[in-house]
Amino acid sequence: MSTIAVILAAGLGTRMKSRLPKVLHPILGDPSLLWVLRALPPDLAGAVVVVHHGKELVLEALAAWQVAGLLPCPVTTVDQGNPLGTGHALQTCVSELDRLGASRVVILSGDVPLTTSATVARLCAAEALLLAMDLSTPGSYGRVIQHPDGRLAGMVEAKDATPEQLTIRRVNGGAYALPWPALRRALQGLGNDNAQGEYYLTDAVAALAQELTVGVEVCDPEELAGMNSRQDQAALQQAAQRRIHSHWMAEGVTFLHPDSTLVGPRVVLQRDVLLEPGVRLEGGVQVGEACRIGQGTVITDSRLDPGVEIRPYCVIERAQVGSGAKVGPFARLREGTDLAEGVHIGNFVETKKAKLHRGAKANHLAYLGDTEIGEGSNIGAGVITCNYDGVNKHRTIIGRNVFVGSDTQLVAPVVIGDGALIGAGTTITKDVPADALALSRTPQNTLEGGAAKIRSRQKKRTG
Ligand code: UD1
Ligand code: MG
Repeated sequence: MSTIAVILAAGLGTRMKSRLPKVLHPILGDPSLLWVLRALPPDLAGAVVVVHHGKELVLEALAAWQVAGLLPCPVTTVDQGNPLGTGHALQTCVSELDRLGASRVVILSGDVPLTTSATVARLCAAEALLLAMDLSTPGSYGRVIQHPDGRLAGMVEAKDATPEQLTIRRVNGGAYALPWPALRRALQGLGNDNAQGEYYLTDAVAALAQELTVGVEVCDPEELAGMNSRQDQAALQQAAQRRIHSHWMAEGVTFLHPDSTLVGPRVVLQRDVLLEPGVRLEGGVQVGEACRIGQGTVITDSRLDPGVEIRPYCVIERAQVGSGAKVGPFARLREGTDLAEGVHIGNFVETKKAKLHRGAKANHLAYLGDTEIGEGSNIGAGVITCNYDGVNKHRTIIGRNVFVGSDTQLVAPVVIGDGALIGAGTTITKDVPADALALSRTPQNTLEGGAAKIRSRQKKRTG
């Protein structure tokens, strides 16, 4: 028995008024389609995404998620061509579903991001089920008609409904589990003689309900809310945020100002983490026990070990920070930064592909790129690794317990041995052996009384 998910994502999303296909619009940093795919159970035989509008962008995104290991099961795509309705979308999947040996299909929409994995799991385990919701203003949703015992009797789209049918508040959430051979047959008989001239999947489901029992599960409307406009996107983001905040609060995380704090769905926080106002954590972020993340800090795809202190206004991307390290305020850790235990990175320091070993310090105004800095070394204010010659990038290797004086430029490739001392203001262009003192300065010229002399001349000129 092989269950295959079909995710409808071919629609244009006109009301988003965007170049980006609707399903790629983000909710807390992750595109809607990724939310839907991540909610699928890992034992699913596969998923088919129906694409058309913005197809190249969707395919690109799917390939990137695949590489990043974010997809729970094998995913293929079908191009619907000109989308003629949800039923037509399923019709274009027939040969792909046959090829995959589907015995049952679970149908979801790529623009409905907040269905929980528990709900999707129930859908995947059901023989034939429809997810519905009860709305006080059912609006343009399709109406669900049930037999007295709850079984599905029929469905009617709002635009085709009688005034009496429009009063029904139970609406179709657009998520279904159905046996494939039976649905396949029902799709063959679909027509488009309706108000929208579309091939409705709902007609096929209603036809199926005549020959087998289709259950109706009523869900929390938040789980089935679709993203059709920027208003919907904002509302979904808020709902997602509430859900994620309460989860992490229950796990022992403090939010000093929850309303201004954004935590994405792939963020993992340990106990006693404290998030100050205006923090944003997106992508795959792991924050260890008792870390404190300062106001206005943005962290993407990074790992913080326990007890890290990030002071306000840091930007951290694809970096690792070892336990007890202190970063910021106003620091920028870029991709490939790897800070060991107890490292200190201070204000206005930028790091990229920089490995700093235990206890190394760069407390003020520095650029550290393509570099490795040994245990206990101290990088003075204004130090720059000159890693780029205009064509290629080169590495700077600094040993243990090295002291690099302020305003030093390290012209890479260059190696500084353990225990070396670099005088302030030096331009290093050659390797420095261990325990050496390296210094490049033009000799200082001091003229006794020279300043007074210049000042008196200046006075003469102006006076
Ligand atoms: C559909 C249902 C309606 C239900 C609502 C729930 C039908 C006929 N109606 O309405 O009963 O209440 O969903 O949200 O199914 N799509 C395609 N190809 C198409 C058309 C749509 O892939 O040809 C995709 C869209 O991109 C979207 C999803 O299918 O992800 C639903 O389409 P949409 O037009 O939003 O559904 P409705 O017509 O509003
Ligand atoms: Mg429609």
